[in-house]
Amino acid sequence: MNKFILRGFGRYAPERVMTNFDLEKIIDTSDEWITTRTGIKQRHVVAEGETASDMAFEAGKKALADAGMEASELTHIVVGTFTPDSMIPSTACRVQQKFGIKGQMCVDVAAACSGFLYSLETARGYLALKPDSKILLITSEVITPRLNFEDRTSCILFGDAAGAVVLTGGDAEARPNVLDVILAADGDLGDLLTVNGGGSGCNYKKGDVVGDEYFVKMNGREIFKHAVRKMTSISEELLEKHGIDKKDIDVFLPHQANYRIIDAIGRKFEIPAEKVFVNIDRYANTSAASIPVALSEAVETKFINPGDLVLLTSFGGGFTWGAALIQF
Ligand code: ACO
Repeated sequence: MNKFILRGFGRYAPERVMTNFDLEKIIDTSDEWITTRTGIKQRHVVAEGETASDMAFEAGKKALADAGMEASELTHIVVGTFTPDSMIPSTACRVQQKFGIKGQMCVDVAAACSGFLYSLETARGYLALKPDSKILLITSEVITPRLNFEDRTSCILFGDAAGAVVLTGGDAEARPNVLDVILAADGDLGDLLTVNGGGSGCNYKKGDVVGDEYFVKMNGREIFKHAVRKMTSISEELLEKHGIDKKDIDVFLPHQANYRIIDAIGRKFEIPAEKVFVNIDRYANTSAASIPVALSEAVETKFINPGDLVLLTSFGGGFTWGAALIQF
């Protein structure tokens, strides 16, 4: 049996912080509304010109240092993002360039907020094919420039950040071991959360003024319902597959989209609040970056400890969703 060992964790968030009180000054909202509806208090915002690959590079350096590895040892770079630096080249190639290394396979994975779990399963596939692989997996999102600040329902929800892990094979005793990942998608629900502008279905002509399609557009209520149902059901499916009781989960670490979504899943799933990792108050929803940023914090603060069985779950545009089990 192949092992899928997480050797190191890293995260990066831009220096600039935008609080709910800052938002009150530019849109018709309040700290009270945002806090009670979402649990968010602040979000990080990129500096002018700061890109997904810049942030990915910072998070990737930390994950490599944590793993005690050099970039030159890597065989693959996988980047999960819906906000790549450019159409061409991929953000993974940009990251490789920033590390000053060559030759590795570099690829981007697009699965919106499920980007980390989709990238993890992609990386596990490469590792299954080539057990000597040393894979840097980074998710990085520059979302704030893609927010429509005339739409107060969506612009309050997101922030910018990057998270990274190093994935390699290992012997039977090695930990943390990714036991399993299961993924799902339903393209029929795709139009409930979109950024269409710039894609081949919504091309611009030279000189066009950028329209609403360029920004995040969503049906919040529908997303909320599907997010709760699908993260709950896929988590149950994963535990059932492995014959694991909910009570045996030590830490539940869901995608940080909205505290009310996290709370609703926790209740449906009967996981006590003290086992649920939450950092949405400080980061908001960082899409694909949310899980590895949370993982990195949970490990550093010893919310996750050696021996813990950790359940991850995510949901995002596409719609895409998934769950994973990690034995620390
Ligand atoms: N400040 C103040 N009032 C607001 C704001 C705001 N920022 N946004 C909306 N309102 C108002 C609305 O206009 C509405 O007013 P009305 O009753 O006078 O019409 C009222 O608040 C209630 O609006 P709802 O849309 O019903 O609010 P709801 O309780 O559904 O919360 C929210 C909205 C926070 C967007 C919620 O639906 C949600 O979190 N959905 C999930 C969206 C999400 O997570 N998207 C991210 C991508 S997918 C993912 O990561 C899982």
